[in-house]
Amino acid sequence: MDSQIMHVRNLNAYFGQSHAVKDVNIAFSELSVTAIIGPSGCGKSTFIRGLNRLHEEVPGARASGTVLFKGEDIYAPMIDPVALRRTIGMVFQKPSPFPAFSIFENVAVGLKLAGVNKKQILKDAVERSLRKAALWDEVKDKLHMPGTSLSGGQQQRLCIARALAVDPDVLLMDEPTSALDPISTAKIEELIAELKKSVTVIIVTHNMQQAARISDHTAFFLMGELVEFGETSQVFTAPKEGRTERYITGRFG
Ligand SMILES: Nc1ncnc2c1ncn2[C@@H]1O[C@H](COP(=O)(O)OP(=O)(O)OP(=O)(O)O)[C@@H](O)[C@H]1O
Ligand SMILES: [Mg+2]
Repeated sequence: MDSQIMHVRNLNAYFGQSHAVKDVNIAFSELSVTAIIGPSGCGKSTFIRGLNRLHEEVPGARASGTVLFKGEDIYAPMIDPVALRRTIGMVFQKPSPFPAFSIFENVAVGLKLAGVNKKQILKDAVERSLRKAALWDEVKDKLHMPGTSLSGGQQQRLCIARALAVDPDVLLMDEPTSALDPISTAKIEELIAELKKSVTVIIVTHNMQQAARISDHTAFFLMGELVEFGETSQVFTAPKEGRTERYITGRFG
């Protein structure tokens, strides 16, 4: 049996009175890729934002339940959410490099905020992270250029490098390729396969082929509920729930 890095128990998330994530129970295997699928508005983004306490940053939003990360509840009072978000990093749908920052600074920023200021340590970490994000060869001669001067696909890999620089255990990705062309998408998919050797990946995607290609496990959400969770091959070839089958075969609604 594989070991599990995260156990989610009875997670609920609200925006004011609206109940967006309903009593979700799930566990994530270490060094695996889990795809989160489901129709628009079913709570996928809200759910993964509950896994690193980003949800509570929305005014009026709250969460309840337990998320055990390596055995410790991330919602416990002594947990610092800012430090937590380095360990459980996130990449968003729209590539979002810091506009005023160079490529180098974009990758170094998390380490600097964590108190690292030795030049050589930062240089090494930036190179290592850009290599892991499969971007080093394309940017090594222009590290001083603005992050926003890169193409969309390069910017997304820059954001992945930024998240990797602080050595996360888990990387949450919210539709990281939906704004990218097929070649950039293929690069990020290859990268995820490589990342899985050192990071646990939880990825929201609307692309069924992508989920089937890159993930070990798949979770299907509908109207805030986790309807089905299992090995990706099982969910796609022999779903247990009729609702899952209707969704993955496009006969939903
Ligand atoms: N900031 C917000 N304030 C109030 N309600 C919100 C907010 N963000 C999301 N919601 C609501 O919460 C529910 C879940 O939204 P969420 O963004 O998690 O869905 P999603 O599955 O990620 O959808 P999509 O595939 O379109 O990204 C929806 O009903 C949505 O309208
Ligand atoms: Mg979303």
